[in-house]
Amino acid sequence: YDYDLLVVGSANADLVIGVERRPGPGETVLGSDLSVHTGGKGANQAVAAARLGARTALLARVGDDAHGRLLLDSQRSAGVDTAGVLSGGAPTGVALITVDPSGDNSIVVSPGANARLTPADIRDASAQLRASRVISAQLEIPLETVGEVVAGLAPGSRFVLNPSPPVPLPAAILAACDPLIVNEHEARVVLGASVGDDPEEWARALLALGPRSVVITLGARGALVADDRTTALVPSVRVRAVDTTGAGDAFTAALAWRLGAGESLVEAASYAARVGAAAVTKEGAQVSFPTAAEVASLAGAAPDPAPE
Ligand code: RIB
Ligand code: NA
Repeated sequence: YDYDLLVVGSANADLVIGVERRPGPGETVLGSDLSVHTGGKGANQAVAAARLGARTALLARVGDDAHGRLLLDSQRSAGVDTAGVLSGGAPTGVALITVDPSGDNSIVVSPGANARLTPADIRDASAQLRASRVISAQLEIPLETVGEVVAGLAPGSRFVLNPSPPVPLPAAILAACDPLIVNEHEARVVLGASVGDDPEEWARALLALGPRSVVITLGARGALVADDRTTALVPSVRVRAVDTTGAGDAFTAALAWRLGAGESLVEAASYAARVGAAAVTKEGAQVSFPTAAEVASLAGAAPDPAPE
């Protein structure tokens, strides 16, 4: 394989304002100075993996504009192969983000060029797909485009999906996921039915929909990993949260890369938890992602005690 990881997904300019609290309808609040960061769930995953040392490529679409050039620059300086980043058709995607004092964010995305990444664009990139050990996607691009990625998977390659923002998923996409990576909200939307409060129950119900494995991220409680043989809770790493934006993308990219390198779900999720933890300690998405050396230095930090 030429690439450890090919990320198919979105690239956004993140326009970030810190707020004491979010405005209600009809209300105006004053916030911090504006920060413009490179983001988008796909672009974030690609930078996260490349910074850790994975041979990484991105398949995406940006606008022919300043935000698009900023995103291409950040990919290239992280070492991502951008031959598959198409340009034009609509403005670059933008995410309007507020971050509150606890580090939590609220995000509105204008997909722009991301919505113009088509199934035909995926077919044009079939050589790159075949040259990639692991292929990872999210849902800030059209669902048909993700469907085409799944249809074009070569035997032996591995597909990882974070269905964010979540929608109910077609059976063919679900069956390809190894793993499907969801948080609580995404799990509920993918499951569609009303479900209880037990993550182990969600994991079993999700596996019944077809994925070969499932990872449910539970914030401070850690991540529940499950396949037909094992179910395990991987504890989170305790850090002081500054900005959680993109931490989930860094987690997913690290997990996908380590699985491709032959680690078990538990091993890969433990590594990914440290990557995600490092990312929440700094402002911004891509700018906050750690190198492998930074992850190693965080490994000494005390993990949260596993919940009973
Ligand atoms: O997952 C975080 C990302 O979501 C941000 O970078 C923003 O662009 C939105 O896509
Ligand atoms: Na961050």
